[in-house]
Amino acid sequence: MRNSQNSAADDSDPIIRVRGLVKKFGDHVVHDGVDLDVRRGEIIGIVGGSGTGKSVLLHQIVGLLKPNAGQIEVFGKSVRDTSEEEYRAIRRRWGVMFQDGALFSSLTVRQNVEVPMREQLDMPDDLRETLAGIKVRMVGLPDNAQGKYPSDLSGGMRKRAGFARAISLDPEIVFLDEPTAGLDPIGAAAFDTLIGRLQAALGLTVFMVTHDLDSLHAICDRIAVLAEKKVLAVGTMAEMLEIDHPWVREYFHGPRARAALKTTDNDEVR
Ligand SMILES: Nc1ncnc2c1ncn2[C@@H]1O[C@H](COP(=O)(O)OP(=O)(O)OP(=O)(O)O)[C@@H](O)[C@H]1O
Ligand SMILES: [Mg+2]
Repeated sequence: MRNSQNSAADDSDPIIRVRGLVKKFGDHVVHDGVDLDVRRGEIIGIVGGSGTGKSVLLHQIVGLLKPNAGQIEVFGKSVRDTSEEEYRAIRRRWGVMFQDGALFSSLTVRQNVEVPMREQLDMPDDLRETLAGIKVRMVGLPDNAQGKYPSDLSGGMRKRAGFARAISLDPEIVFLDEPTAGLDPIGAAAFDTLIGRLQAALGLTVFMVTHDLDSLHAICDRIAVLAEKKVLAVGTMAEMLEIDHPWVREYFHGPRARAALKTTDNDEVR
């Protein structure tokens, strides 16, 4: 568990504020009263069983899915009850790495990173290319990766390219949906280190959906558990270990959790 200067941040001014969120698909109720505050500058890990609505929550926060009820504010502004122009202005201040990566296969790595810049910024081509190249370097990809297509990259490199695209507009918040899924443990640990370093260097707030207990131990300041259609608990790893709920207990005290504790206890990832 990292020691963040931000973990004692003021709760009264959350950077993301979700209240009473209800989301249904037909008769299927996914969220029924989700409340969540995300503090500026923290890395918060969102956990929950498969299908509990972690990705759906992320998509609602960034305005890609419409809730049936409830409020979502980011930077103190409603994401939905706003003009298209205001939404565009808010959207510029976050970056998203989706669960499926969603890189354009017909574009090179650098061109993928340029996509949000083309959509949102008016700047000369050579300046945009240079800035995109810097982002590619920032995520630890070699210079020769810039001109490669996603299909020519390893899974870990594709994740880094997705991360470079998520930070292309110098966002204040980065949303990451399962960033280390599919990586081997060494690749996942390296990616955790990258997230932690960039968060510290850029002062990012990171909203990270993850199944990866190592990531939770290594880089998350707080954890939010989605279960029973709600955020069942929010707190530090130490607080999670105290919670007496069947899923939470199984998740945080099960064999995988014990292995994660062992591997991260002596690991300084930051
Ligand atoms: N566009 C959609 N239309 C209908 N149902 C949907 C849609 N998107 C998600 N769902 C359903 O909502 C529920 C929550 O999905 P979601 O993808 O958020 O789960 P998750 O917690 O991210 O799971 P995982 O850990 O497997 O990624 C699932 O039952 C899913 O089938
Ligand atoms: Mg998901």
